[in-house]
Amino acid sequence: MVELHSAPTDALSIRFSHDIRTLLDAAFGGHFTDEDWAHAIGGMHVWLIGSGGLISHGSLVERTLVCSGQMLDVGYVEAVATAEAHRRKGYGTMVMKHLGELIRERYDLGVLSTGAHSFYEALGWERWRGPTFVSSPRGRERTPEDDGGIMILRTPRSPVVDVVGDIVCDWRVGDVW
Ligand SMILES: CC(C)(COP(=O)(O)OP(=O)(O)OC[C@H]1O[C@@H](n2cnc3c(N)ncnc32)[C@H](O)[C@@H]1OP(=O)(O)O)[C@@H](O)C(=O)NCCC(=O)NCCS
Repeated sequence: MVELHSAPTDALSIRFSHDIRTLLDAAFGGHFTDEDWAHAIGGMHVWLIGSGGLISHGSLVERTLVCSGQMLDVGYVEAVATAEAHRRKGYGTMVMKHLGELIRERYDLGVLSTGAHSFYEALGWERWRGPTFVSSPRGRERTPEDDGGIMILRTPRSPVVDVVGDIVCDWRVGDVW
């Protein structure tokens, strides 16, 4: 049997946080960094657990983005992964559907960065087609390597956002998107 759970980072035990990190390290083939982990905590976690342990996980953190000229509180999705042995069974979709519900309840917009567009498109996410930027300590800077990788999920409180406009994320250490 598989169970869906959600909780904020500060409600997770150290041991369970370690289990999530272990899943992410394996799922991203050793490319999941300490900075990526720092980006995945401090908000809500959604996960699926089965008799053999953790199956799938995703995080939701709050960020402030400027999307086609409008400053919005966005639910930013991080650290989405399913253990390799459990992939293509709909588990990642279950986690993302729940994250989507949280985003629709709480935020102006959902945003994430990915190379797996079709996975998210099936869940109602749209590709951002305009140029990407970061609001860095040096001012607004282009992030051309992230163009085409950003996706949004509209919510009942989303204003009209034009996906061919500029999108600007707030600053953080590591991958800004
Ligand atoms: C992406 C990932 C989370 C999907 O998890 P999953 O549990 O296998 O997802 P689902 O079974 O719900 O997949 C549903 C559909 O999404 C699509 N999909 C799955 N993984 C995909 C990927 N990497 N790229 C594009 N589409 C993908 C498939 O169409 C799949 O349907 P299918 O089984 O009929 O082909 C998983 O492959 C994974 O952990 N990958 C490594 C980490 C990663 O890339 N995370 C996302 C980065 S933002």
